[in-house]
Amino acid sequence: MLLQRIMRDPSRCRIFCKVSDMYKNEILRMLRSSGSYVSGQELCRELGISRTAVWKNIRQLEEDGYEIEASAGKGYRITGFPDTIAEEEVASILQTERMGKKIRYFSRIDSTNQYAKRIAEEGAEDGTLVIADEQTAGKGRSGRHWVTPPGEAIAFTLLLRPPLSPDRISMVTLVMGMAVAEAFRSLYDLPAGIKWPNDIVTGGRKLCGILTEMSAEVQKVHYIVIGVGINANMCAFPDEISQIATSLKIETGQDVNRAQIIARTMECFERCYAVFEKDGDLSGLMDDYNALLINRGKVVRVLDPAGEYSGTALGINRRGELIVRRDDGTECSVYAGEVSVRGVYGYV
Ligand code: BTN
Repeated sequence: MLLQRIMRDPSRCRIFCKVSDMYKNEILRMLRSSGSYVSGQELCRELGISRTAVWKNIRQLEEDGYEIEASAGKGYRITGFPDTIAEEEVASILQTERMGKKIRYFSRIDSTNQYAKRIAEEGAEDGTLVIADEQTAGKGRSGRHWVTPPGEAIAFTLLLRPPLSPDRISMVTLVMGMAVAEAFRSLYDLPAGIKWPNDIVTGGRKLCGILTEMSAEVQKVHYIVIGVGINANMCAFPDEISQIATSLKIETGQDVNRAQIIARTMECFERCYAVFEKDGDLSGLMDDYNALLINRGKVVRVLDPAGEYSGTALGINRRGELIVRRDDGTECSVYAGEVSVRGVYGYV
């Protein structure tokens, strides 16, 4: 029985978060993967629940905006999907073992990073994914505000408990940057690149920003939260960022499926993170990262608090530091946690 298999498989334990959602998620997954009718009998048998329970869960899915056709003798079939990034939608398409095995979704929250830190303090497990449709106090890098309009943006935060020292955490952020760029490329064939360390850009404009925060002692990280903000279906931006921001909708000319983007990003991240964990650094990923790096070979301005300087960005090393050759020929490695870089003529 499917349910018994799931119960034995710890990687699927996200379905035990809430009993009602447990069946909603699995029914959605079954209807989605069938692509056609699934009989009520089959749903009862696979999930080990009554016909009434199946019907109640189908009604719940309809209330969530799914269009489900019920046909006598054939069963149930999905005919329409809501534009949602709620737990059941993301969980029903997510193909990961570890990342997002537990999902917490909010239609509105202050900040997914803030929430992830709160639940991390209470013991939430590695791989927990927090998603919000709207953030009222979204945080950007350097204390900036990050705007997350409902129905248009993507905001999520992944909680990890890596057995690393704090100085290695910036590498994990670079891995997430790669994952986002690869997700955009694979889903939309979009020439997305990375502005070091982890802005995802296309055509010189920003599509996505990443903010990692951590709780740590001198040698030991308790947890990190990696927050990802993606400009998905926005058509316009506030004046102050209109010259440097763009969205997937603007770039692809179509509305994008936000749940699919979250799922694909988690899948790419899980794959890249496994390589990072095995190597203990970015040696197995740096060639791919450097191929995505838009600063490579370009003159950059390094905004080092100890003194700004310019040079040519050569690429990252295995610790994720940006190697910059200064005009006098000397090479510096720039650590992502301390400084940022700008193009000499603007954002990139
Ligand atoms: C940047 O300034 O480039 C980083 C932006 C990070 C925004 C994301 S949205 C999800 C998560 N929650 C937050 O409050 N911030 C991050």
